[in-house]
Amino acid sequence: MNQAALHRLLALKSSDKTPETLFDLRLSTNLSLIQNLFFSLYPEEKHGSSFNGLLRLLPELYHSRPKELKHQDLERMLSGNWYQSEKIVGMQLYVEHFNADLKGLGEKLSYLQELGINFLHIMPIMTRPKGENDGGYAVNSYTQVAKQYGSQKDLLNFTQTLRENGMYLMLDFVVNHTSDEFPWAKKARKGDKKYQAYYYTYSDDAIPRAFERTLPEVFPETSPGNYTYIPEMERWVMTVFNSYQWDLNYTNPKVFLEMLTQLVNLVNLGVDVVRFDALAFLWKKIGTISQNLPEAHTLVSLFRMCLQVVSPGTVLLAEAIVAPTEIVKYFGTGIQHGNECEIAYNASLMALLWNSIATKKTRLLYKSLENVPIKPADCTWLNYVRCHDDIGLGYENEFIQEIGWSPHEHRKFLLDYYCQRLDWSPAKGLLFMYNPKTEDGRITGSAASLLGLEKALDEKDSSRIKESIAKIVLLHGIILSFGGIPMFYAGDEIGTLNDYSFLEKEDKKEDSRWVNRPYQDWETIDGFSKKKLPQYQLFKTLKKLIHIRKEHRVLSDANNLKLYNTGNEHVFVFERTSMEKNGMLILCNFDESPQVLNGSWIMKLGYFTKGEPIDLVSENSISLKSGLLQLDAYQIIWLKKAD
Ligand code: GLC
Repeated sequence: MNQAALHRLLALKSSDKTPETLFDLRLSTNLSLIQNLFFSLYPEEKHGSSFNGLLRLLPELYHSRPKELKHQDLERMLSGNWYQSEKIVGMQLYVEHFNADLKGLGEKLSYLQELGINFLHIMPIMTRPKGENDGGYAVNSYTQVAKQYGSQKDLLNFTQTLRENGMYLMLDFVVNHTSDEFPWAKKARKGDKKYQAYYYTYSDDAIPRAFERTLPEVFPETSPGNYTYIPEMERWVMTVFNSYQWDLNYTNPKVFLEMLTQLVNLVNLGVDVVRFDALAFLWKKIGTISQNLPEAHTLVSLFRMCLQVVSPGTVLLAEAIVAPTEIVKYFGTGIQHGNECEIAYNASLMALLWNSIATKKTRLLYKSLENVPIKPADCTWLNYVRCHDDIGLGYENEFIQEIGWSPHEHRKFLLDYYCQRLDWSPAKGLLFMYNPKTEDGRITGSAASLLGLEKALDEKDSSRIKESIAKIVLLHGIILSFGGIPMFYAGDEIGTLNDYSFLEKEDKKEDSRWVNRPYQDWETIDGFSKKKLPQYQLFKTLKKLIHIRKEHRVLSDANNLKLYNTGNEHVFVFERTSMEKNGMLILCNFDESPQVLNGSWIMKLGYFTKGEPIDLVSENSISLKSGLLQLDAYQIIWLKKAD
């Protein structure tokens, strides 16, 4: 049994107990697991006193948790996993791009509620260096709100308002690195040995060179290499991301203890989900790529178990944009099964959907999804179409080859298709971190621009406009029904196009991810009274789908997903199954022409037993013609089985 389930049981059995007694119970139940995890990273012979430090720290951290949140923790333990519910629909946004600051965002809650959003991922809002700061992912503090967003009080008011409105909040915990202006980094620069040991610093480049032999580069164009020489300190420091982001040295148990404290301080502000940023990189070892190492998993699980004791209502999201087979491991494997992160980005589904749009085919999608192991029962996916980052082409080469394509040529085609290197392609994306030598690269651009809306609007081509809106609905219809939390990216609900203004900004122009970090287009939203606007049609359809999702329990995540390979290579079909016989069948056409499917197997599944079933998306009943079911170009159908 995983620890969350155990805690639920504990809470149920002890509903007459005080929160304090329950804390003691949680601590004693978890202690041996925490101890094993700790000593497997930090051997007892050397680090016994650090473990004692952890034992002293946990009650202190628990006492620092606000009373209201302690009660909320207990309620959540009793009420099951809210994050697997069909009622949850998220949106990711930049506060400053949405409506100026935290107060401004608070004023727009009604817009979000109208759409049906009740879970927010707000992008980094803590202090960061002026100038380049990786969109706030270079942190000067884990808990101090940067002035531009408002005050600490504003954040507390905001989280309070969210709680009162039954909404959830996710914030980032940049667990792998701090900025070079973080207090520890500043002390390290000044020669403080204690803090130099908080990072990977070296007096000469022998070890850095040994590491470089196998370490890949995250930002090869703008920040080549993985080390930066700091003359002031006369030492090299590991900087896997940008040169101003120093990697934390978790081989030092003091770093773990300090970061656990930072984490609890963050969740005590009223954070429901912690996005564990770049967690695949947490442990480094010479001779490896230093990603997804077993020790990184142990460390995540250690964070998880300590948080489970201190603040059991908080959940973790794994931001592991890694190979499909590696992502699921962040739910925990072996004795850590179900004891790492409750949620993980479904980066594989996201990348596969973009592959299906470009190729108009679904074979790679099936092949890859069929090979994803079943996740633990208490875990779920965060499903998304676009986010603030690039789209990486992280497919398994083996699967590409099995389809008969060359992995290299295929990836080149995708870059050509999305990044304006093919005249006929409707997509208007940009290349990100392109390496002309290897021809490797990634893709940036907003969903709408990548799906052809920008080009269609430029060319005033109404049928192309319609087609691109259908594609936006198709992809969002999938993330809304696939199982997991659907996370909209602010602006996509109204088909926001690329924002090229970053090209004029000194601190942004080298990073084309800014093209897909647009300002919320309130002007268009205010013009919704002109009902013919394609943006309004899109908003209306997505809003409808969100509301339908919330009415259908079968769309909550209970590992109840079944894929159907229909033999039509343009079509993607899956069912959300239910013991109560009220499943839902989702049928998607990735082709620009109508496609037909043999209806007999759909009949066998029981969708026609009570007459013609209703497609909840178009609200039409579906009939078979000559035994065939027809899907229009880029159509998505949500077929409801009559109860
Ligand atoms: C994550 C963020 C990305 C950032 C990186 C380094 O991948 O999503 O935007 O650049 O971490 O913190």
